[in-house]
Amino acid sequence: MSSTACPTTWLVTGANRGIGFELVKQLLESPDNLVIATCRNPEKSTALSELKKSAEGALHIIRLDVTDFANVRASAKEVETILGDIGLDYLVNNAAIVAWDSVFDMDPEKLVDILRTNTVGPALISQVYLPLLEKGRAKKILHISSQAGSMASFEELIAEEHRKLGAYALSKAALNMLAYKQKVARPDLIVIALCPGWVKTGKYSMQDMGGEKGLLQPEESIAGIIKVTTSATSADSGKFLRYNGEEIPW
Ligand SMILES: NC(=O)c1ccc[n+]([C@@H]2O[C@H](COP(=O)([O-])OP(=O)(O)OC[C@H]3O[C@@H](n4cnc5c(N)ncnc54)[C@H](OP(=O)(O)O)[C@@H]3O)[C@@H](O)[C@H]2O)c1
Repeated sequence: MSSTACPTTWLVTGANRGIGFELVKQLLESPDNLVIATCRNPEKSTALSELKKSAEGALHIIRLDVTDFANVRASAKEVETILGDIGLDYLVNNAAIVAWDSVFDMDPEKLVDILRTNTVGPALISQVYLPLLEKGRAKKILHISSQAGSMASFEELIAEEHRKLGAYALSKAALNMLAYKQKVARPDLIVIALCPGWVKTGKYSMQDMGGEKGLLQPEESIAGIIKVTTSATSADSGKFLRYNGEEIPW
């Protein structure tokens, strides 16, 4: 447990590396937080296991493959056991995959994989975790999206590879709509779609997300994400925000 009797509780998907890992790390700097870090292979997640050693009970690591619907459903029961009488304050849908394709060369199977991971996973996780969010105090869902999924600000994308993106852009545009529809359906929740900026995560390869060309260090992006998320009020619900709080047009 965290050192507070009634901690602020967070669940982060895709916490094995990159933005998810850095988010977990920074959240643990506050003794008020209790963090459930989820990843596909907890037994192989050495970085999270290292973090747990010094977390003094404030970090729980559980298996959650966002494309495995049975696992998603089972994970909520595991989380409920961890939380006991308290609810979940913050649900962070961060896990995602990318393909450096473009609309006329998208592999349809890859498109389905990307939609399943980046859109369907967050939609199901939101449904399954709703009872725990209802029990929580903050009642916030944060969808880590991308400006690549914005139509209205497309012209602002500076990197040619981001302007070309096909399947990934479709998945993030759909995720943005999910955030908006969730806000409309449940005005009592605070739901935000948020672009972390172009962050140096992983290496620059066909698999990795941000890469070495990224403009931001994870530390800077995540510090902004935490500030924006914790200070968000119901007036911000249904918005598409940047890590520094600026609003991004849909
Ligand atoms: N980096 C950027 O510049 C940038 C820009 C805009 C938006 N974003 C968004 O920010 C978020 C994090 O990106 P990142 O840069 O940290 O990416 P990353 O370094 O590639 O990390 C992605 C994480 O998602 C996990 N993941 C992938 N598929 C999963 C699944 N089926 N179930 C559970 N976890 C899964 C990965 O797990 P494994 O470690 O097991 O592979 C990994 O931990 C994503 O939503 C991304 O779209 C990033």
